[in-house]
Amino acid sequence: MWKAIRNALILLILLLSWTTVAVGASLKSGEMSSLASQGRPLFLHYCAACHGVTGDGDGYNAEQLDKEPAELSSRKFIAKKKDSQIYRVIKLGGHGVKKSHLMPVFGHTLSEKEIWSLVAYVRYLAGDWDHPITLPDNVSSTRPASPPLEHDSLKVFRNWYSKKGKDQSLIDQGEKLFRKKKSCFACHQLEDEGGLVGPDLSRAGFSYTPEWIFTWIGNPQSIKPKSKMPNLGLNNKECRKITAFLASLKGEGIKKKWRDYLGSSGDPIQGKKLFFDSDGKANCGKCHTVNGQGGKVGPQLSFVGTSRTKEFMLESILNPKAVITSGYSSILILTKKGKFITGVKRNEDDSSIDLVNKEGNVLHISKDEIKKYKTQKISIMPGNFKDILTKDEVRHLLAYLGTLKISN
Ligand code: HEC
Ligand code: HEC
Ligand code: HEC
Repeated sequence: MWKAIRNALILLILLLSWTTVAVGASLKSGEMSSLASQGRPLFLHYCAACHGVTGDGDGYNAEQLDKEPAELSSRKFIAKKKDSQIYRVIKLGGHGVKKSHLMPVFGHTLSEKEIWSLVAYVRYLAGDWDHPITLPDNVSSTRPASPPLEHDSLKVFRNWYSKKGKDQSLIDQGEKLFRKKKSCFACHQLEDEGGLVGPDLSRAGFSYTPEWIFTWIGNPQSIKPKSKMPNLGLNNKECRKITAFLASLKGEGIKKKWRDYLGSSGDPIQGKKLFFDSDGKANCGKCHTVNGQGGKVGPQLSFVGTSRTKEFMLESILNPKAVITSGYSSILILTKKGKFITGVKRNEDDSSIDLVNKEGNVLHISKDEIKKYKTQKISIMPGNFKDILTKDEVRHLLAYLGTLKISN
């Protein structure tokens, strides 16, 4: 209903504006300035999950939130705000301007110019043509530096964690930061509550090593430059407390009947052979890259030995569908011609879906060709390794994965 009214309004404004354009207005109504067009891909990547693709406040993550994401397509709402107000909430997050902490901070991830381009795009979504943005002088187009991973700071952390990591009062403070102060809970679930943008963290302590949680949350972009998780500007103490909290969430642990896989350790050299043997029954390298070698269907495993616990890796091999790695969910598409296509979804925008099929080919499918599609709860990774690999072979593979570390 509102959309219809808005579209009618836009059309009306468009018609009326032809006369003004003739006298030389700087921006035609309905036209996207070049600044706003730089903001568009950023908006789709970082904001649409909550605010919706067209800014209506109805992204897939919106109903998970206790506070409704603002309706950025509302002209009434946006027109009364100054550029600097919109700029500040994006840069500092809701918490930084006394609004909901669920609106994340982007000033540690995006350059000043990128944030201005988002301001321009928000005005465009609102159909607010009366306030063209003028960029301030000397606006910087470099993103905030992401400090490289340092082996030393990891050592210091490990030391701290072994002494203080299980301290209940620190764990409680970490939980409070996670749920109430920072925007973590807006994107991550704990026990069926919270956001859906990132992975469910109810079993974070089973899935990730403490040192990995610490490294990742301090600076996601240094590990994965294109991650949708912004750098939240946490200080060292906040990182430690949140890590202590997340690492305490172990869930039920590994199934009893699988525990004896972990009883003795395997041989990493044999594990590597199994991993890359293209005629063998494991042939993990067909889908996984390690240090530049291998396929791209699944996540790269170059430092899985640092990031994942042994229990998690075992579960991944024996029962891949237990946890689907974020960004690797499998999608089933039915085309209008009646063909089924399945693969790992890499990207989706208003007009198309990119996916990688089991053979590793990237397919770009226009939404015009699609009848319906859905994300599946199964993994593209084969589920029968528990039947075809012997216990010792699995142990060898685990030993090999355990050697894949960030810095040796
Ligand atoms: C995880 C969900 C989430 C994401 C992602 C998100 N927002 Fe928000 N945003 C919110 C919520 C919730 C509010 C409402 C805050 C309030 O009113 O207290 C909000 C409010 C806003 C507002 C209005 C603030 C005001 O003055 O009332 C703007 C502008 C905004 N967001 C822009 C963005 C932009 C641009 C991005 C991407 C760079 C983005 N948001 C990403 C959840 C989100
Ligand atoms: C705007 C959404 C968003 C916010 C806010 C956010 N995250 Fe994330 N997080 C993600 C996404 C998306 C991923 C998946 C990583 C990827 O593949 O890019 C992720 C991944 C993670 C991971 C797993 C890392 C891995 O290797 O897969 C942890 C742990 C995590 N986030 C913790 C946090 C904490 C703690 C906070 C708050 C301080 C937080 N996140 C805030 C979106 C978010
Ligand atoms: C047909 C492709 C394919 C093959 C073969 C394959 N995998 Fe996977 N693997 C995937 C996909 C896709 C994912 C992500 C989805 C998921 O979590 O199940 C994944 C996830 C994983 C993960 C979790 C990574 C993380 O950090 O979340 C591990 C560990 C893993 N695979 C190990 C292996 C091992 C070891 C083998 C060989 C025995 C193997 N895989 C064979 C496709 C494959």
